[in-house]
Amino acid sequence: MQKEFSFKYEIFNSIDELNSEEKSLLEKARQNTENAYAPYSQFNVSAVALLENGTTIAATNQENASYPVGICAERTLLSAVSSLQPNQLIKTMAISYHNLNGNSGKPISPCGICRQSLLEYENRFQSSVKIIMSGLGGEVVVVESAKQLLPFSFSAEDMK
Ligand code: THU
Repeated sequence: MQKEFSFKYEIFNSIDELNSEEKSLLEKARQNTENAYAPYSQFNVSAVALLENGTTIAATNQENASYPVGICAERTLLSAVSSLQPNQLIKTMAISYHNLNGNSGKPISPCGICRQSLLEYENRFQSSVKIIMSGLGGEVVVVESAKQLLPFSFSAEDMK
């Protein structure tokens, strides 16, 4: 038996095609790349969460001279939201980056560890997080749930 995994996602040619709420979220994510601490990779990443109550929380990647200690913007953000606003669900997360040594024009895509963390967040709160991915300009990719980015994922269910 063969099976197939597929999911729908949206591509927009530019930020201007997003609705006003999502446009302003992605604008914040783009601006916030300035606050990254990425002296080693020079790859400044930003993630901004839009919470249920309409507030936003912004985070960036935080690197370290001991490279594996560094943490991605998406997981910095999940920890920040869970700590600062533990009772507010994340509705949408916008992610952007500024590659100081190259191009920043195509959409970013979260790394595998961040996908796993996002999945845990969705499972924990039984709530999906819409993900908006972009660079400093150009196309914008939107997925309805982080879960879509991680087929065959491992979760607490698998330990029952
Ligand atoms: N990084 C993120 O923060 N998020 C991503 O989605 C991809 C990668 C960071 C990790 C590291 O600080 C730098 O980007 C280069 O990999």
